[in-house]
Amino acid sequence: MNHKSDFPIFDYFQKQGKPLVYLDSAAMTQMPRAVIDAVRSHDEEAHANVHRGIYALSETATAKYEQARETVRAFLNARSANEIIFTRNTTESINLVAYALGKSMLREGDRILISRAEHHSNILPWQMLAEEKGIVLDMVDADEQGKISLAVIERLITPATRLAAFSHVSHVLGTINPVAEMGKLFRERKILFLVDAAQSVGHLPTDVQEIWCDFLVFSGHKMGGPTGIGVLYGREELLAGMPPFLRGGGMIQDVSFDHTEFAVLPAKFEAGTPNVSGAVGLAAAIEYIRKIGFDEIRKIDEEMTTELFSRLGQIKGITIFGPHDAKDRGGVASFTLDGIHPHDLATILDRDNICIRAGHHCAMPLMKYLGVLATTRTSFWVYNTRDDVKQLAEGIEKSRLLLKKKP
Ligand SMILES: Cc1ncc(COP(=O)(O)O)c(C=O)c1O
Repeated sequence: MNHKSDFPIFDYFQKQGKPLVYLDSAAMTQMPRAVIDAVRSHDEEAHANVHRGIYALSETATAKYEQARETVRAFLNARSANEIIFTRNTTESINLVAYALGKSMLREGDRILISRAEHHSNILPWQMLAEEKGIVLDMVDADEQGKISLAVIERLITPATRLAAFSHVSHVLGTINPVAEMGKLFRERKILFLVDAAQSVGHLPTDVQEIWCDFLVFSGHKMGGPTGIGVLYGREELLAGMPPFLRGGGMIQDVSFDHTEFAVLPAKFEAGTPNVSGAVGLAAAIEYIRKIGFDEIRKIDEEMTTELFSRLGQIKGITIFGPHDAKDRGGVASFTLDGIHPHDLATILDRDNICIRAGHHCAMPLMKYLGVLATTRTSFWVYNTRDDVKQLAEGIEKSRLLLKKKP
């Protein structure tokens, strides 16, 4: 089934006579009309601050904001809405955890386990703890197909390992990591587990109880939602014991000049006016995903990946990184083309309104490990069709012939 017609942007470019081939959903998904309408109707009919006003309009906005939190709770199968904190994005969610754990539970000499394939957002906050608190970072390497084995993780665990932070789906290699098995292992070893679900939550069902994770983070704009809204899921006992990240209005119980009592969860971690319409849009995106269904989304990802491997495999000089089997991958694939810089390729493809990503993808440690400066990345979501992949392959072949070095 073709879901393109749910997304107004494709119609817009079609009417301009420049059909859009959008293959950069790992950076940002397009928004379905259902999300755009939900945000617009909130802005037109319910725009007011939340948890502050005594008047009906503010109460309506508060109810919608809290309903959005409940929608996220159900989507993740969290035990309580107190475990859902709204943030701006994945990056802010991870920084919140790093800051608060650094202030409360982590000590000098403690160790944190991450993989070399992580996004900078899941490296730099831990690096900050390494610099400021003398915490040691341990790096897990993937095998040649980008898979992380539990045996390798087990070898790196020491009695000082306190936290592990891994992405569910790699934003460069596309690898689906075995987070449920990892979660069980970390729980048995009493190691806190943070899952970066930025690339998975819009593609695979996510159940925080099944994964056994302590924290799970994601961004609305990579799953059909608006920008500026993200989520931190945290186990309630942990969040309750962590100090606030930001301080100010909306997160207090009582303030005097020499002492402040903080509000209970989730308000303790939501200082200042939140992105109310963003939360409403995120809830609409979750409803949209539910309507399409993860079986259908998974089918599309696998179909697109298989088509990509088949078409790109016929182009001379292409190397595709990550797992070989579409079943082991999410909706992301990165490749290089011999002798052609990814930026040049992206620029030529853009002439035909084909949007792909070129660069280091905020994963410089992985690029260094792969021995490349940059790759070209394609990423899919529900609107993509085999024809998009065909146009990409034709565009790459055209670029290759155009940019080929003369002997
Ligand atoms: C796996 C992963 N983690 C974290 C991020 C950072 O997300 P954001 O920029 O929304 O904070 C990204 C963004 O591409 C990502 O792919």
